[in-house]
Parts: sequence; C-alpha cells; structure tokens
Amino acid sequence: MNEQISAASLYDRVARVIPKAEWMGFQDDVEAILELKRKRNAVILAHNYQTPEIFHGVADIVGDSLALARKAMEVEADVIVLAGVHFMAETAKLLNPEKTVLIPDMAAGCSLADSITPEDIALLRKAYPGVPVVTYVNTSAAVKAASDICCTSGNARQVVESLGVPRVLMLPDEYLAKNVAKETNVELIAWRGHCEVHELFTADDIRELRESHPGVIVLAHPECPPEVVDAADFSGSTAVMSDYVGRERPARVVLLTECSMSDNVAVHHPDVEFIRPCNLCPHMKRITLGNIRTALEENRHEVTVDPAIAGAARRAVERMLQI
Ligand code: 13P
Ligand code: SF4
Repeated sequence: MNEQISAASLYDRVARVIPKAEWMGFQDDVEAILELKRKRNAVILAHNYQTPEIFHGVADIVGDSLALARKAMEVEADVIVLAGVHFMAETAKLLNPEKTVLIPDMAAGCSLADSITPEDIALLRKAYPGVPVVTYVNTSAAVKAASDICCTSGNARQVVESLGVPRVLMLPDEYLAKNVAKETNVELIAWRGHCEVHELFTADDIRELRESHPGVIVLAHPECPPEVVDAADFSGSTAVMSDYVGRERPARVVLLTECSMSDNVAVHHPDVEFIRPCNLCPHMKRITLGNIRTALEENRHEVTVDPAIAGAARRAVERMLQI
C-alpha cells in the first residue's frame, strides 16, 4: 500500500476529533476499504453528516446534497458507494444509470422522504391546477418523477424564482418552504413534512446557548423551524455553513444541525471553538466503516430505479442542476 494514504498516516487529519485508541479500532477497515476501492475502481461519496472516520478517512467526494448530486455526474469510476441516505444513492443512480451504485444499509432512509408519495402530489396537482411542483431532493425517485423540478437547501430560492410564476408548491419540507418564503416574493404552498433531526431545535435552545456561551455565533440549517432560523445569526445548507466558518472564522460557533457536521468542519479549523448541542440522524448513522467494507466486498446493496420513472425523475434533477 502507498504509505501516503495508509490508515496510519490518515490519522493526522482526524486527530482533533477522534481519540487515537478509537482510530486504532478503525484502522483495519480503513486499510481494507482503501484497497477495495483500488481493486474495484470505486469511489465513495459521503454526505457532510457522515462520521469523521468515513468523511476524512475513506471518502473521495464529500459535500452537501447539491454538491454530491453535481459531483456524481462527473464520476468516472465503475462503482459508487453512497455514504449517506437512500435518496442520495437514488440521485447518484439517476445521474449514472450505467454505473453500479451501492448503499451500505438499505434502511438508511429519511423522515422527509417518507412524508410524501406520488399519490399525494397527484392530489395536490388537482387542488392547485397549473401550479408547478418543486420537490426537495430528500424524496424518493417516484416523487421526483411526479414533480417539475427538484431543489436542495442550497439552491431552493433560485429554483423557485427560476420558474417565473407567482405561486409554487414546495414539497415536502414545511420549514424549508417557510424559511425560503421569507426571502422571495413567490408564494410557496407547503406540505407538512419535517426533518426529525432539525425539528427538535427550538428558539429557547438558542437563548440558552447565548447565555451560557457569550459571543457564540449561531448557524442554523433551513430545515429548522422558522423561529429557530430567525433567532440564529445565519442559515444555510451544510456546505454553506461550512463555508461560513471558513470565511468568517468566528471565535465560537454552534451549528444547529446533525452532530457529525461540527466534527467534520472542526478538523479544518483548530482556531474555532465549536459548541456542541446537536442532534443525531439515526439514518445517517446506519452507515459505518464496517458496512462500507462489506458493500465493496459483497457488492451490496445495489440501488436501482424503476425504468418506468427513472426518465422523469432524472429530468427533475437535471433541470435543477442546470440552474
Ligand atoms: P444539505 O447537506 O443539502 O444541507 O442537506 C441536509 C440534510 O439533511 C441531508 O439529509
Ligand atoms: Fe433526513 Fe433529516 Fe436525516 Fe437529513 S438529517 S437524512 S433530512 S432525517
């Protein structure tokens, strides 16, 4: 193995957030995964909520949902392992129909994706004839296929405004829709889906944080309730939050989002103090080094999209990526 990318030499990257003893337990899987990637001509795409041993240890491409979708289009490997949740793997498959796309645990779902079905969209289209449907990428391929265009938390406003209409159905995240509605003149009709991680943050949490950690800068993900975003100093997708920390270098910061995010960003910013109230996403946490290794060893679990809906779902994603 090339010494430069051995598991032992990778430890320096994560020493701030993973104790040495814990890393020793990861080393065998990291070495095996690096070797399997070479053998299978595979790449690992990892979302910002993956644990640091995955994010900094074995991933080739990292980012928010938008970046992962964009970069999935440029992948040249034969195999893509999606270290994230099922809708992300489906999006990668839609954009790479010829490649093998694997997810290490098929049960890695999402409360937002589970909150809406294509039948719900059909009913909404009847209730709001002619109103275009924008769906968050946190949805199944079948729901994407029933929509006009997708969006992520990183481009939602641009997508909504690109349609040039006064009214849009923005589904399924109620809070994302309400947060975007504050920034645009387009009327947004929302659904009642919520992210089970971000809906737990409250404006009281922020008040308490400001009292206990004077001067703390509060960044909130737009899946948080609107009153939380209002009480924060800044709001943006996971990539936008990470860029904010790099650009503004706050002395003290709290990221109101999934727990691994602070660990992954802290690796790059030893001068920033990260305050850590956070919530775990049980779906993201289903992905481990162990099941990434098994995915590559046993070629599982392969993600496929029903050909009857793949074309329409791909069009909705590609339309978003053109903006
Ligand atoms: P972004 O990375 O696009 O901000 O999405 C957050 C999220 O909850 C993905 O599951
Ligand atoms: Fe879904 Fe929320 Fe988990 Fe993201 S953090 S995968 S939106 S449940």
